[in-house]
Amino acid sequence: MRVVPVVMVAGLGMLMAGRLAAAAPGPSPEAGGELAARWCAACHVVSVSGAGGSSAPSFGAIAQHRAAAEIRAALSRPHARPMRGFTLKRHEVDDVTAYIESLDSRR
Ligand code: HEC
Repeated sequence: MRVVPVVMVAGLGMLMAGRLAAAAPGPSPEAGGELAARWCAACHVVSVSGAGGSSAPSFGAIAQHRAAAEIRAALSRPHARPMRGFTLKRHEVDDVTAYIESLDSRR
């Protein structure tokens, strides 16, 4: 009888696919914060505590004035001139957007 093993393998595959989907993390503000400290702090104040450069609007200010969709749009455009060639992966855009949003004190 060959049917049983095939069904079992298929079932196992589906189980594993389900696991992977469940394990796939959503936007992570923590990862976004690390990314911001590494890549954005040269120009932006990236934390509420105020560490970072002052040549660009602070992330706290951006959080209050911009909706998530606007932040995402800004991040998918070529950025300030020294940032040319700098592209964030999709999940990085999600993470850093989640991080910036988390700074909005009104939420
Ligand atoms: C080389 C300096 C520099 C770096 C590094 C930099 N930015 Fe910027 N950013 C700017 C400047 C200057 C502006 C304002 C002018 C503009 O929009 O280009 C800006 C604007 C923005 C805006 C839009 C603000 C608004 O309200 O319109 C967002 C969002 C943003 N930056 C996010 C980031 C993120 C996230 C990173 C790191 C991944 C980053 N920036 C790294 C200089 C920088």
